[in-house]
Amino acid sequence: MEKMSVLKMRYLQSFLICYLCLLATWISTIHSSSPSPVNCKTDGYNCIVSSTYGVWPDRSTCQTAKVVYPSTEEELISAVADAVKNKLNIKVVSKLAHSAPKLVCPRGGSGLLISTRDYANNIIVNTSSFTATVDSGVELREFVDTIAKFGLALPHSPYWDGLSIGGLLSTGAHGSSVWGKGSAVHEYVVGMRLIIPASPYEGFVRIVELTEEDEDLNAAKVSLGVLGVISQVTFALQPIFKRNLTYVSSSDEDLEERIVAFGSDNEFADVTWYASRSEAIFRVDNRVAVNTSGDGVNDYIGFQPTPRHLLESQRNIETQAELQKDSQIKCDMASTQIAAFLKVGMGLRNNPNAFTGYPVIGYQNLIQTSGGCQNAVDTNPLTLVCPWDHRFNGSFLLQTTVSIPISWIKHFIVDVKKLRDMDPTSLCEVDLYTGFLMRYVKKSSAYLGKTEDMVDIDFNYYRAYNASTARLHEDVYEEIEQMALFKYKGLPHWGKNRNVGFEGVARKYPNLHKFLEVKRRYDPQGLFSSEWTDAILSRTPCGVSIQKDNCALEGLCICSEDSHCAPDQGYFCRQGKVFRHARVCRYEPSSI
Ligand SMILES: Cc1cc2nc3c(=O)[nH]c(=O)nc-3n(C[C@H](O)[C@H](O)[C@H](O)COP(=O)(O)OP(=O)(O)OC[C@H]3O[C@@H](n4cnc5c(N)ncnc54)[C@H](O)[C@@H]3O)c2cc1C
Ligand SMILES: *[C@@H]1O[C@H](CO)[C@@H](O)[C@H](O)[C@H]1NC(C)=O
Ligand SMILES: *[C@@H]1O[C@H](CO)[C@@H](O)[C@H](O)[C@H]1NC(C)=O
Ligand SMILES: *[C@@H]1O[C@H](CO)[C@@H](O)[C@H](O)[C@H]1NC(C)=O
Ligand SMILES: *[C@@H]1O[C@H](CO)[C@@H](O)[C@H](O)[C@H]1NC(C)=O
Ligand SMILES: *[C@@H]1O[C@H](CO)[C@@H](O)[C@H](O)[C@H]1NC(C)=O
Repeated sequence: MEKMSVLKMRYLQSFLICYLCLLATWISTIHSSSPSPVNCKTDGYNCIVSSTYGVWPDRSTCQTAKVVYPSTEEELISAVADAVKNKLNIKVVSKLAHSAPKLVCPRGGSGLLISTRDYANNIIVNTSSFTATVDSGVELREFVDTIAKFGLALPHSPYWDGLSIGGLLSTGAHGSSVWGKGSAVHEYVVGMRLIIPASPYEGFVRIVELTEEDEDLNAAKVSLGVLGVISQVTFALQPIFKRNLTYVSSSDEDLEERIVAFGSDNEFADVTWYASRSEAIFRVDNRVAVNTSGDGVNDYIGFQPTPRHLLESQRNIETQAELQKDSQIKCDMASTQIAAFLKVGMGLRNNPNAFTGYPVIGYQNLIQTSGGCQNAVDTNPLTLVCPWDHRFNGSFLLQTTVSIPISWIKHFIVDVKKLRDMDPTSLCEVDLYTGFLMRYVKKSSAYLGKTEDMVDIDFNYYRAYNASTARLHEDVYEEIEQMALFKYKGLPHWGKNRNVGFEGVARKYPNLHKFLEVKRRYDPQGLFSSEWTDAILSRTPCGVSIQKDNCALEGLCICSEDSHCAPDQGYFCRQGKVFRHARVCRYEPSSI
């Protein structure tokens, strides 16, 4: 008991310090400090590629022979031509590489990596046609701020602004809405320019220009990077508008009854469900006329530059909680954090300087997405980083992100509540990382887009540094994951998730064959494909799961025998408690 309150105190102290230095960062100058995903032995050769998290889902390393950084289309074309001529496998990676699955790794660990870090020079706005054409390496933040200066807006986007246009489209990234065309960014694509392999007679490359008239655009809009290199993208935009946002906290008592209507009633609705606390935060967020007064900014706390020591001390307390198998410690941390976040409106500000209360009204580009930590400077003695920065022992997490058909979401919530009611403390871990974030996404014409209107469920939870270390209540997370994927036929986010998320995924897409047909035409030799993309795009189940000791702990497999869990640590492969078909690793010390 005493230990618990000491930990809690330490945590509270860290939090206060945190706010003081966050204040300091708002007035400091900025230049990029996030780590590069590509590290080479010699300049541009013999490189190791990692994601922003530093570790791939299977903890393997990805090697590539060479990396290039084109800054013009001519350089891009000649890089692709060269690689095709030499039959090299190719992959494209963005400046910061935010996808968790191993999507950016060339086949065989020996190919060419094309980075779009420097391919970000053009944002060409046409104010009479309400369109903009951008280079694929342009960062989301730069894009929305630039078009705003021309009085235009992208109606929907992911919530984190450090993504590249090419990368966010390729994995079907989205915000939250069931209005109009919905929240996926690819719904607003009206043109694309791709560089694809070609025969020697054509000079080894071909430029493909797609417009809305071309059916192939349905393949290219969400392509997992396997069709070729996206050079430029043209978006249909809207006149800029403002948004009026209020977070309303309420009991989750009737969440399952409210969730569908709430999405219909509010253009930019989302719900943050803190299940352990029986609480839901409803984002009441709607468009208002551009002349409505308000200078609001969304500066979401989780994306602000964060002091390294705060992240490390939070991680230490979590690890202590894991070692002591004491979930109450995590519940206390979650309570403290949620209270602190809500107090500052999650990072919303009514004017550039302060949060004074709801509603917060501001321009679309300043509300739709946020960031900042990717550009943090080092200010001695406190180092400011993104929470997931792998150079430090800060937060290190697993993530499950699955979209569930809107017609099933009610039943999913009821099932999660049943699990919660068996032991509410089992979900405190998730609440420490903003709960179950529920966002609306609409049925898409993209072959690899959503197959119907859906609610996307996104949750994060503790990952041990040692892949063989079992985790507190992991059976509960595994059961929810399998429930979402298999009982409710959920679709995994292509750019997130553990391997199990992709088990049988190809069979969930009725238009997969159309996508594969375009892929065969554009890249018959499969130079842009890899072991991972082959595995996820195959209808025969192979390659996604890895069967070995402890494989279920990090979602490399679904356990079918105890050795897939950690019997030596008291974790055995058992049935789900609500979803009986689930197979999960449960702590049963008495069975050792
Ligand atoms: C902190 C954080 C917050 C996030 N928030 C959201 C969110 O709110 N909503 C959401 O939907 N997703 C979100 N994501 C997931 C994110 O949208 C995807 O992981 C996205 O793919 C990352 O884009 P990237 O620019 O980092 O691309 P990368 O990870 O570098 O690449 C992703 C894929 O795109 C391909 N690719 C990139 N550029 C090109 C190109 N020019 N031509 C061809 N292929 C290309 C790559 O080969 C790879 O297959 C978030 C991720 C993080 C880390
Ligand atoms: C802008 O769009 C209009 C309407 O589609 C078109 O006529 C015009 O040529 C475009 N301008 C430029 C500079 O491309
Ligand atoms: C903003 O939204 C709130 C409801 O959340 C509403 O009461 C208020 O009138 C709105 N303000 C404007 C200016 O539209
Ligand atoms: C906003 O502009 C509209 C016309 O476009 C006008 O009718 C309205 O009164 C204006 N509102 C404010 C608050 O200025
Ligand atoms: C992180 O922790 C591991 C072991 O837990 C240690 O080996 C490593 O040096 C630490 N890294 C940093 C940057 O402190
Ligand atoms: C990881 O944990 C396992 C099981 O507890 C242990 O056998 C192994 O030595 C650990 N590995 C490292 C690198 O600490």
